[in-house]
Amino acid sequence: MAKRNKYENKGEGIDTSKSNINWYPGHMVKAINDIKSVLKLIDIVVQVCDARLPLSSCNPLIEELAQDKQKIMVLNKKDLADDEETKKWIKYFEAKDMLCLAVDSSQPQDIKKIIDAIITKGKDAYKTKVESLSVDFRPIYRVLIAGIPNVGKSTIINKIAKRNAAETSNKPGVTVRKQWIRVQDNIELLDTPGLLWPRLDNNNAGEKLALTGNIKQEILEIEGLACKGIEYMLSNERYLSMFKEKYKLEDEDIEYIDSYDILELVGRKRGCLMSGGHVDTEKAAKIFLDELKDGKIGKITLESVESEDVK
Ligand code: G4P
Repeated sequence: MAKRNKYENKGEGIDTSKSNINWYPGHMVKAINDIKSVLKLIDIVVQVCDARLPLSSCNPLIEELAQDKQKIMVLNKKDLADDEETKKWIKYFEAKDMLCLAVDSSQPQDIKKIIDAIITKGKDAYKTKVESLSVDFRPIYRVLIAGIPNVGKSTIINKIAKRNAAETSNKPGVTVRKQWIRVQDNIELLDTPGLLWPRLDNNNAGEKLALTGNIKQEILEIEGLACKGIEYMLSNERYLSMFKEKYKLEDEDIEYIDSYDILELVGRKRGCLMSGGHVDTEKAAKIFLDELKDGKIGKITLESVESEDVK
């Protein structure tokens, strides 16, 4: 196992207050107010998270704001996450009485799973109301898709709505122009997502969100972040073999060196050389981080149900 790296403590100075949007307290207040006002019209909230980071990519505020609503938890980008870990996370959320689905939003059958879940939750929302109303009453279930940036909210809206043009909102909260998209005959989906800020309260959340691309990697010290990613790969037998295979490394290459030296080795393997034969570690870091984020090293989950942060 590699020893600790010289960037060990760099992550602690990271300004995790920034994401794709620079979230300031004013933005957060606006987001809360917008979501509160839209929730009055909503029966069901679908919270979209990243399956590679089921905790850090959620914002628990939505739970609080939508206490009296039906809720669905969607772990999106399951195609990039470790299948075994995803199964454990689904069990974890189900044990908390949540309806949780893992999806790849490019798959029509997974989009159908979301629509089916909306119908199930819609029936629950109107169970008592419908019994007391006329038998002919056919409720329309109104749905908000919410989540932090880059988890795939707009993609899911567009797929459910069967439209190509992305009506994405990159401003805090729900945009002012609200339009309802009719799906089947009994679902109406708000056409703009509820945008939440990334949570940065749990252990290394900012770092993990940067590794998955949910907050911009450029705002962090890129080589330090790559070292953290490498350490993560080394901490798990399965991920270690994916890493060695991807970068054509042998056990003896990496056994006694730290993660920064491993990054140099990766750079060397990828021809990131500067004059004098020195490795351009910044270039190597970018290559590694892109490949990790895009799932090119393998299907990896950065948060484990078994970790001590998980209650
Ligand atoms: P947001 O509204 O929550 O901010 O996210 P958005 O839908 O814009 O999706 C963010 C990125 O995630 C997009 O990639 C999108 O294609 C990708 N994505 C969405 N769902 C999935 C999924 O299930 N699996 C995978 N692997 N990727 C998914 P992008 O690179 O930003 O844009 P583009 O390449 O699609 O143009």
